[in-house]
Amino acid sequence: MLAPMAELSHRALRELIEGFGGCDEYFTEMISAGALLGGGPFESYYIDGAPCPDRVVYQLVGSDPEQIAGAAALLDQKPCAGIDLNMGCSAPAIVRTGAGAGWMASIDRAGALIALVRRRVKKRLSVKLRIGPEDDFDYLAAFCRRLEGEGLDLVTLHPRTSREKFKRRPRWEYIPRLRALLRIPVAGNGDIASAGELARRAAGGNAAGNAGTWDALMVGRLAVRCPWVFAQARAMEGAASSPLPGVINLEETARRFLDLLAQYQPREFHLSRARRFFAYFCDNLKWANHVKTLLNRETTLSAMAARLSAYFRECPEEARLRL
Ligand SMILES: Cc1cc2nc3c(=O)[nH]c(=O)nc-3n(C[C@H](O)[C@H](O)[C@H](O)COP(=O)(O)O)c2cc1C
Repeated sequence: MLAPMAELSHRALRELIEGFGGCDEYFTEMISAGALLGGGPFESYYIDGAPCPDRVVYQLVGSDPEQIAGAAALLDQKPCAGIDLNMGCSAPAIVRTGAGAGWMASIDRAGALIALVRRRVKKRLSVKLRIGPEDDFDYLAAFCRRLEGEGLDLVTLHPRTSREKFKRRPRWEYIPRLRALLRIPVAGNGDIASAGELARRAAGGNAAGNAGTWDALMVGRLAVRCPWVFAQARAMEGAASSPLPGVINLEETARRFLDLLAQYQPREFHLSRARRFFAYFCDNLKWANHVKTLLNRETTLSAMAARLSAYFRECPEEARLRL
């Protein structure tokens, strides 16, 4: 599954990933429940589930239970695979309002939220979370058991504490431990660094009813850097319908992404979304930081495209990536 990532998990990225063969489910970037109900100017872009609406999971963020339930009920009417609630975002501005990781401060408050939303949502209802404010597995387990009791269908765990941001290694061993205590499926997420790792972890997953591991895997930053990673992992698993892509044309991929952004995102979002994307995608290049600096100076998508062309003219050997 593609992870929810603000300014990244939108239609243009889904189109790009689908072009390489796709993944099973695409979580959207977090959508503010309040802004959605209030009819914010860009909401139609946030809830555009194309090109594969049935495999999209809408993620909501908010602190007001009534607002979240209302927004969830609205999205539940759309074709989608489910509704996810953000209980993991640890940005101080979000947590301060009681949203994101703020939900993990109180089992009762979060339990009441799930009970309320469950009454309004027929499709799969999930949450994505971190371990919590502290490294306390027992608290995490009690928290998830309560949400399961209130009707939750799936939990995705990024096994770091809220404070850790992206520091320390994620504690992947918590995922099978949590799974052993719940009846609902548990997905794992955090620092999957290569198609090889994704395939290896998938092989250790639930395919053969293996009780010890995880039910699904979620990939974030690696899927921005390498939108072909799902196809590559499937090919490594030996899926007959998925030939290994072989050679990736990075220049063409970058240009295609810029075209998709222009086509499917509002003008006001173009620069921020392009910069976010290239912050990860450029890590495929030898002179990654140099290229990012150059791209960040540009103020239009077409100037970014020209800058990339100039780079690949100077370094033609960089335009193609052999997998
Ligand atoms: C730029 C960025 C934006 C993110 N936005 C969200 C978000 O909107 N909702 C969410 O639940 N997690 C968000 N995350 C966390 C990711 O979903 C994921 O848990 C995290 O990146 C770890 O996975 P990875 O190592 O595969 O990237 C974001 C992460 C990044 C890097």
